[in-house]
Amino acid sequence: MNEGTGIRDVVREKYGAAALRVKSGGSSCCGAAAALDNCCDPITSNLYTDGQTTQLPEEAVLASLGCGNPTALAELLPGETVLDLGSGGGIDVLLSARRVGPTGKAYGLDMTDEMLALAERNKQSAGATNVEFLKGEIEHIPLPDNSFDVIISNCVINLSADKDRVLREAFRVLKPGGRLAVSDVVTTGPMLPEIRESVLMWVGCVAGALEETEYRNKLAVAGFENIGVEPTRVYRIEDARTFLSGQGIDVDAIAPQVDGKFMSAFIRAVKPQVKAPCCAPGCCS
Ligand SMILES: C[S@@+](CC[C@H](N)C(=O)[O-])C[C@H]1O[C@@H](n2cnc3c(N)ncnc32)[C@H](O)[C@@H]1O
Repeated sequence: MNEGTGIRDVVREKYGAAALRVKSGGSSCCGAAAALDNCCDPITSNLYTDGQTTQLPEEAVLASLGCGNPTALAELLPGETVLDLGSGGGIDVLLSARRVGPTGKAYGLDMTDEMLALAERNKQSAGATNVEFLKGEIEHIPLPDNSFDVIISNCVINLSADKDRVLREAFRVLKPGGRLAVSDVVTTGPMLPEIRESVLMWVGCVAGALEETEYRNKLAVAGFENIGVEPTRVYRIEDARTFLSGQGIDVDAIAPQVDGKFMSAFIRAVKPQVKAPCCAPGCCS
């Protein structure tokens, strides 16, 4: 078993259990918060406005496990086609579907059966007709080249063991001029080995986080331009205490060292337009 397969299996199991908790009337909760049975973790809470959540099925809101609100920042337009990488219970797909309207379409891609079943139920409850959920891995997107105007993702890319591949795949399926609009956890300095090594923390949306410069470099290598990383929440010691608790980690030793080094960020980038073909002698010089 390679590292990627091992991590994917742990992630799938964790989010499958989270989806089942929502189905049985509980809240999904991410990583450390779920282990603690404490749903007030600072990463996933209070991401959406009341205006957004009141129009959604309750289970879609309860299943929210993101770390931002990418559809609020993505500037989606009527008629656009959107793909959400790691769509979970479907909250951002349903919000996108409303923004792109009946002439547009929103797709969600997820590898976890229980999450896909929950997302389907939420689609039915919302009465959404311009929505489709697909099973697959974000490292191998089962969709054609150049087919989306916008790719969104909410706290998922940090979970992948092969982020280069995810970004290459996102670039491939975007149309020329298409936008990437991602919420993710990002670090602002080298990460402590104790944290990176913990698969549990990885599943808790933290240890797989890229350093900001690394994220920008990987996006550029994948071919993106106009890359931006904007902090949306910066985590302090007290936040770190919450998500490190219960992980078998010496919280007192580590918490002071992570103060201000983790943030939720909005990451944007654009797939370049195809250059116009040469039309006159000398125009390519
Ligand atoms: C942290 S949750 C976020 C869910 C959703 N984006 C939200 O904001 O509520 C991560 C989701 O991504 C899915 N996921 C994680 N890694 C994946 C991968 N490599 N390929 C496809 N889906 C993945 C999980 O099954 C889970 O539903």
